[in-house]
Amino acid sequence: MKFFIDTANLAQIREANQLGILDGVTTNPSLMAKEGIRGKEAIEKHYLDICEMVDGDVSAEVLSTDFDGMVAEGKRLAAIHPNIVVKVPMIREGVKAIRWFTNNGIRTNCTLVFSAGQAILAAKAGASYVSPFIGRIDDGNWDGMELISQIAHIYNIQEFRTEILAASIRSALHIVKAAEAGAHVCTCPLDSILGLLKHPLTDIGLAKFLEDAKKM
Ligand code: E4P
Repeated sequence: MKFFIDTANLAQIREANQLGILDGVTTNPSLMAKEGIRGKEAIEKHYLDICEMVDGDVSAEVLSTDFDGMVAEGKRLAAIHPNIVVKVPMIREGVKAIRWFTNNGIRTNCTLVFSAGQAILAAKAGASYVSPFIGRIDDGNWDGMELISQIAHIYNIQEFRTEILAASIRSALHIVKAAEAGAHVCTCPLDSILGLLKHPLTDIGLAKFLEDAKKM
């Protein structure tokens, strides 16, 4: 399973990258706004900075909601760096745009996916990644992980090549469960990635080893 970090914060991206386990980055307009990045040039420069920092796919989201606008924006984003993956929302115009990008050699991440039907459409349009939003589904009292399993099952029997990118991850447990459910990628906040490190028995065991080492 691949690990992406879900942020536009350069310090956090650097920290995750230094662990040596990072395969890519996802951003969205909310995450970019959180970093105070405004204006086309600043946004494009920020994507380039991320691409130069991490050796892996970097999702950059279009802001248009019409086919022509998405295609124009996506072409511009894809030209920033070969690792840019154009992130397109799961709407009617988005599906058309994903098909256009697929036919024109531009990779895509279909975002805001909340059902298996949407995931089938994304795969049919040739999306490189499909992003089911686990945390937001859980927030609504449904089971986000069940959706990952369902999509994994469908993609497997139908031999779709689109990769399942588990998004809206809220905890280390989400990462483990998504891996179990068959996600190809997890995009996670830094805290959730670091949460995987933690186990009290590791801390207790290490403290004991270090104490005993003094007697060596
Ligand atoms: C990533 O591709 C998604 O945009 C992100 O994981 C959404 O996360 P959120 O539901 O925590 O905003």
